[in-house]
Amino acid sequence: MQLYDQNHIRAFYNKYADLETARWDKSIIEQVKLYVHQHYLQQYLEKNDTILELGAGTGIFTELLATYTSDLTVTDLSPVQLKLNQEKAQTEKYAHQIKDWQLTDICDLSAFSDDSFDKVICYGGPLSYVFDQKIKALHEIKRVLKPNGIAFLGVMNLWGTAHEYLTKIILPVAVEDNEKVMQTGNLHPSAFTTSDHHCHLFTAKELKDDIQSVGFQLLTISASNCLSALRAEVLEDLKKDTEKWKYFLDLELRACQSPGMIESGTHLIAIVQKK
Ligand SMILES: C[S@@+](CC[C@H](N)C(=O)[O-])C[C@H]1O[C@@H](n2cnc3c(N)ncnc32)[C@H](O)[C@@H]1O
Repeated sequence: MQLYDQNHIRAFYNKYADLETARWDKSIIEQVKLYVHQHYLQQYLEKNDTILELGAGTGIFTELLATYTSDLTVTDLSPVQLKLNQEKAQTEKYAHQIKDWQLTDICDLSAFSDDSFDKVICYGGPLSYVFDQKIKALHEIKRVLKPNGIAFLGVMNLWGTAHEYLTKIILPVAVEDNEKVMQTGNLHPSAFTTSDHHCHLFTAKELKDDIQSVGFQLLTISASNCLSALRAEVLEDLKKDTEKWKYFLDLELRACQSPGMIESGTHLIAIVQKK
């Protein structure tokens, strides 16, 4: 039985609609995670790159991508997310930078030719939603990248999620139910979930193995956040001191890349290159 259920995920995100926009604004910790994700885009993107964004949602990253290029194709599985993405681009006046919006599943990029993009952005977990189809999706991403092209991958992380939700989900739920999730990484009816939000939580080893198995070169692997985890109140205070906040963000980037800390955030970020 295939674990990935396209209809379920599409329906989930159609219903989730604009809540997606608020996701990165929920707390100062989410803002730190956003900073870490954006840092890698800023490090590797070049002006006038040909860019494909997958699972773009309502467009928190689209807005930044549009400052680099007008050769930007924005895609998502959910027509509702894609429409919200388009509306945001129009309201915020960067729609002219976007070549096209297309309904696309990351497992099937047949609408795009081989070797056609300098950069592919797949942030925010699309690879976590396709469960057992993740290798197919990674092969598709590699196929559409130009030689030396770079992909930005963001997936949900098992240990970082357990850390963040220890008291809210892990401890209140029966041990055997949690153990099914910890063993498989799957928040899915085949393991255990009371939630409509089905996704696969990766370990760092699994993500690295998958990247290697499709022949990508790993440039960088990072947690989405580390020192900031569970420290919202302290961070609010720290942010009032501009110099200390700048220093903290630099420390956070370094901590997120430290080998012992890679699994400390809710997401893993991997920057990979087609060789
Ligand atoms: C958590 S949102 C992330 C949105 C945005 N990339 C971000 O990081 O803020 C996940 C997005 O991935 C999309 N998605 C989920 N599965 C997908 C798939 N198989 N192919 C393409 N998009 C998918 C959803 O519709 C949703 O818009």
